[in-house]
Amino acid sequence: MAVVFDSGSGSLVLWFISLLLLGAKVKSEPTQDRRALLAFINQTPHANRVQWNSSGSACDWFGVLCDANRSYVSTLRLPGVGLVGPIPSNTLGRLSQLRVLSLRSNRLSGEIPSDFSNLTLLRSLYLQNNELSGEFPLSLTRLTRLTRLDLSSNNLTGPIPFSVNNLTHLTALLLQDNGFSGTLPSIAAGLDKFNVSNNDLNGSIPETLAKFPASAFAGNSDLCGKPLPPCNPFFPPAPSPSEIPTPNPVKKKSKKLSTIAIVLIAVGSAVVAFLLLVFLLLCLKKRHRQRTSKTPKPPVTTRAVPVEAGTSSSKDDITGGSTEAERNRLVFLEGGIFSFDLEDLLRASAEVLGKGSVGTSYKAVLEEGTTVVVKRLKDVVVTKREFEMQMELLGKIKHENVVPLRAYYYSKDEKLLVSDFMPAGSLSALLHGSRGSGRTPLEWDNRFRIALGAARGLRHLHLSGKVVHGNIKASNVLLRPDQDAAVTDYGINKLFGTSTPPNRVAGYRAPEVVETRKLTFKSDVYSFGVLLLEILTGKAPNQASLSEEGIDLPRWVQSVVREEWTAEVFDAELVRYHNVEEEMVQLLQIAMVCVSTVPDHRPAMQEVVRKMEELNRGETDDGLRQSSDDPSKGSGAHTPP
Ligand SMILES: *[C@@H]1O[C@H](CO)[C@@H](O)[C@H](O)[C@H]1NC(C)=O
Ligand SMILES: *[C@@H]1O[C@H](CO)[C@@H](O)[C@H](O)[C@H]1NC(C)=O
Ligand SMILES: *[C@@H]1O[C@H](CO)[C@@H](O)[C@H](O)[C@H]1NC(C)=O
Ligand SMILES: *[C@@H]1O[C@H](CO)[C@@H](O)[C@H](O)[C@H]1NC(C)=O
Ligand SMILES: *[C@@H]1O[C@H](CO)[C@@H](O)[C@H](O)[C@H]1NC(C)=O
Ligand SMILES: *[C@@H]1O[C@H](CO)[C@@H](O)[C@H](O)[C@H]1NC(C)=O
Ligand SMILES: *[C@@H]1O[C@H](CO)[C@@H](O)[C@H](O)[C@H]1NC(C)=O
Repeated sequence: MAVVFDSGSGSLVLWFISLLLLGAKVKSEPTQDRRALLAFINQTPHANRVQWNSSGSACDWFGVLCDANRSYVSTLRLPGVGLVGPIPSNTLGRLSQLRVLSLRSNRLSGEIPSDFSNLTLLRSLYLQNNELSGEFPLSLTRLTRLTRLDLSSNNLTGPIPFSVNNLTHLTALLLQDNGFSGTLPSIAAGLDKFNVSNNDLNGSIPETLAKFPASAFAGNSDLCGKPLPPCNPFFPPAPSPSEIPTPNPVKKKSKKLSTIAIVLIAVGSAVVAFLLLVFLLLCLKKRHRQRTSKTPKPPVTTRAVPVEAGTSSSKDDITGGSTEAERNRLVFLEGGIFSFDLEDLLRASAEVLGKGSVGTSYKAVLEEGTTVVVKRLKDVVVTKREFEMQMELLGKIKHENVVPLRAYYYSKDEKLLVSDFMPAGSLSALLHGSRGSGRTPLEWDNRFRIALGAARGLRHLHLSGKVVHGNIKASNVLLRPDQDAAVTDYGINKLFGTSTPPNRVAGYRAPEVVETRKLTFKSDVYSFGVLLLEILTGKAPNQASLSEEGIDLPRWVQSVVREEWTAEVFDAELVRYHNVEEEMVQLLQIAMVCVSTVPDHRPAMQEVVRKMEELNRGETDDGLRQSSDDPSKGSGAHTPP
């Protein structure tokens, strides 16, 4: 029969005897632990397999392992043995030397007892596949030696506490298939395995967890950020592709959100897919400020909605102290006429307008009918402070030939710019959109007016705003309802790292910029010169036929002009207007100075504007100019000069 020795006796003789008797099944017995185990099993219904014989040693019981001296229970494994009901308190919590506890795949319910906090030596805890409920037990966050914690497939709710960071040795944290809610804490531990899929978590995934696969986060209500798609305060709708989108800015109103989704898919960028676009602004309330009467009205046909009490666009309202408010802060720039409630964004419909190297632009239509453009920037490298400062600077720029920036949004995961939508589209669409197929050619008067408007806008940026535009191109020259032009997408190059090519479209890039990677007023002038050439020739600077020949638009114009001067150079659509040829030649000369290879040879924008205005005045004042949209002027056939 078993002889129970006091393992603490330290008596050499007894110890020696106990050694001799080991083979004779003489064992010490962890009496404290034994009582705790019996208390547990007596209160918990279980399958017959668990027949703990009260006359035998606890260390020999089913599922129980003791240390070598059999002085304490080190491991308790009772997986799938039909344990039912709550884990009684003051039972297992007394197994103070326990290293491993597995009660997985039973039907345990109720809360995890708080006295588990006494299992301070526990290294592995497996409670998955039960019906445990309640919140993530804070008692577990005191078990600082834990390396594996599996609570998956239970009915646990509430937040995942930040104090899991107390578990500094944790390598596996499995919480999937529960009802955890709230945001994911930033867990710094060196986890190898991590899963929180199929809970109700929301918010952005902390960087420390971004290395895990998307399946570790799937099935939550609103998690976002790497490895899932980027965070979208507006929370994209489920895509339902049914329509082929086109990124044409002059395209008519699209359908609802499904179109967006489609577009995104078409664009093929998984990241983009999220689009925040939706987000925009939905309930835009407009506020007309008398003192900003210089600001052009947005080209949208919404009625002015008075700002409701308690819902204003003031920064105070959107600058809450909490992190959530922080995340959702849409900052409206001074003099703005919009105020959006981000909650409304779900109701906005949106479509992709264009996709560029620094982000994607969306047209967003609010329920009220107001339309805005949201540009979603990627690869922003500047700090929040720097970003805000640049936005404040850009927000102050008010000029009829500059598309006003209305609002911006900055969070760790998302940077958005909101500006007015111009339904008439861009110069690029007018010049190059569907040539020949019954489209109305852009006639000379309009081309010149657009060129002059863009020049004035650029001059204002340079002189009053001290801002380098940095991305002059035909698609960034938008048409206002009165057929004047306004430049957009200005002043944001500073936000990106040097890996982003300055002046993102090659055909417009000044030669020195390729080396210096610095954008200057003079490089803007070069780009503007290319724009003028584009207006005159009808050729896009990045057009394939040009690049095949290995030359850019300015070099091509030079080569043609040197030999034959005008006729070949100009857009065939312009050639029919005999009386404006002189004007076109003069504008061509202005353009050629602008595209001088040496920056110092290029004029300043104010000089360019002055020359263009002189040119225009000569024409319009003498009354000779004929309406060039006179249909009798032979639409279609090109009359040689
Ligand atoms: C319990 O163990 C003792 C001794 O090991 C044995 O004699 C007895 O039959 C066992 N009882 C049951 C119910 O297994
Ligand atoms: C077993 O107990 C003895 C005396 O109590 C102790 O010296 C020894 O280190 C213990 N061995 C283990 C493996 O715990
Ligand atoms: C934990 O253990 C300590 C002493 O070891 C005891 O006083 C305390 O009551 C225990 N806590 C729980 C929750 O059982
Ligand atoms: C986490 O650890 C800190 C310091 O060790 C302790 O003060 C805090 O109470 C612990 N939090 C929890 C929830 O156990
Ligand atoms: C999970 O908990 C909820 C609320 O406490 C309860 O309604 C639901 O029945 C539970 N589900 C299971 C499987 O226990
Ligand atoms: C997460 O969801 C809770 C409600 O479950 C909500 O209060 C909170 O604002 C949400 N947080 C984020 C970042 O969406
Ligand atoms: C996370 O758990 C879910 C559900 O159990 C599973 O489908 C997914 O493969 C797991 N992902 C990882 C990375 O373990």
